[in-house]
Amino acid sequence: MTQGGQSKIVHPAPGLHGHLQQPPGDKSISHRVAMLAALAAGESVIHNFLPAEDCMNTLRAMEALGARSFFSEDGALHIHGTSGQVLEPAGPLDLGNSGTSIRLLAGLLAGYPITLEMTGDESLRSRPMSRIKVPLEEMGATVDLLGPDQGVPVRIKGGHLHGITYALPMASAQVKSCVLLAALNAPGTTVVIEPRPTRDHTERLLQTLDLPLTVDGLRITLHGPEAKAAPLPARVWTIPGDFSSAAYWLVAAAARPGAGVIIDRVGLNPRRTALLDVLQRMGAKVAITPQSEAGAEPVGTIAMQGGRLRATTVGGDEIPCLIDELPLVAVAGALAEGDTIIRDAAELRVKETDRIVTMIANLRQLGVAADEREDGMVIHGPARLKVAGSVRSYGDHRVAMAMAVLALFAPEPVCINNVSCVDTSYPGFWNDLKTLGGHAE
Ligand code: S3P
Repeated sequence: MTQGGQSKIVHPAPGLHGHLQQPPGDKSISHRVAMLAALAAGESVIHNFLPAEDCMNTLRAMEALGARSFFSEDGALHIHGTSGQVLEPAGPLDLGNSGTSIRLLAGLLAGYPITLEMTGDESLRSRPMSRIKVPLEEMGATVDLLGPDQGVPVRIKGGHLHGITYALPMASAQVKSCVLLAALNAPGTTVVIEPRPTRDHTERLLQTLDLPLTVDGLRITLHGPEAKAAPLPARVWTIPGDFSSAAYWLVAAAARPGAGVIIDRVGLNPRRTALLDVLQRMGAKVAITPQSEAGAEPVGTIAMQGGRLRATTVGGDEIPCLIDELPLVAVAGALAEGDTIIRDAAELRVKETDRIVTMIANLRQLGVAADEREDGMVIHGPARLKVAGSVRSYGDHRVAMAMAVLALFAPEPVCINNVSCVDTSYPGFWNDLKTLGGHAE
């Protein structure tokens, strides 16, 4: 590691090989389980919780609201819940880089008689928050967006909520979850209608807790409590491996004939795994062995065998089911024969960075021809990657890791600047790279 942990030199790898037996816990599910356990009555035990910065920010926020937690020697997280008695935090909750924390907590807390302020880092302060203000105010809360351009800090004055019917203006699991979590404390019926299917972890978890939630296509209905909500039950949870973290190795293997990786105990929720369809279309070979369900989620083993990739088009309903993998689709496109087109993906512009801009800048930096589109990009492959390239993460964990994957295919080592952001979602990334035969220093 160089420059005080801020940069990594990634060496070319002839092809990744190997077996990851326990990928890190799913980030989206870890956030949600920590929130629900922190409201429950009694102690919940959570296996394979992701102790990355984003989820630790959620956990710290839940402690500020009155929950208590510790990690036992076997690595399990124990959360002693508040029984629904949420304390008003003494000061602003700092959610760092985590959009999931701030948007879901806004909903979760909007039904409590407290006022709280939530803030975050520079990236979080630039992200749109009116998407949660609109439905939460319709439900009866007061949501003030104190930052410039209607952004973070967010101040919530919890109120007496009531159920609403809300048609989401954008495909966003975070906004959907925000409304559903608010509905836990909203007498009446809340209906959320999605424009396209997005990840459904919140729905699955609430159903696991026997809450009255039903799903009918794109319409989700939750019946709120008559008066005060009963406390949620405490329980044991097992978080599946994070498909979005496994995805780095899946693409690294997919794009090289002869390479192959096997990843066990990974989440196979179909609202998360559209990347597998894309890689298969591009010419990689995928074998899936389903295992038992971990809680409410399908889990299994993925074996990926590399091939000579050809370009594809990704758009429509596929987009929300691989939204966090789109930087990797761009990387696969750079290594594939032909023009890979990503469309209907304007949401990329409001992630931790504008990932259309930051990925194109980085791809070009390594000699890949790529064009920006309003709602995506076109990548002209296969690229002849430049010698002595250097790229930047722009502080975006998924950009840093996607570029590390592309660097494995470069003719010479590539320097990736500012990689500490990787800890946001995948603190073990560099170790797992080593386990699979890669090398970074
Ligand atoms: C997430 C949903 C997605 C995703 C994010 C995590 C979640 O965001 O990009 O990394 O946990 O619900 P949007 O719902 O805003 O698209």
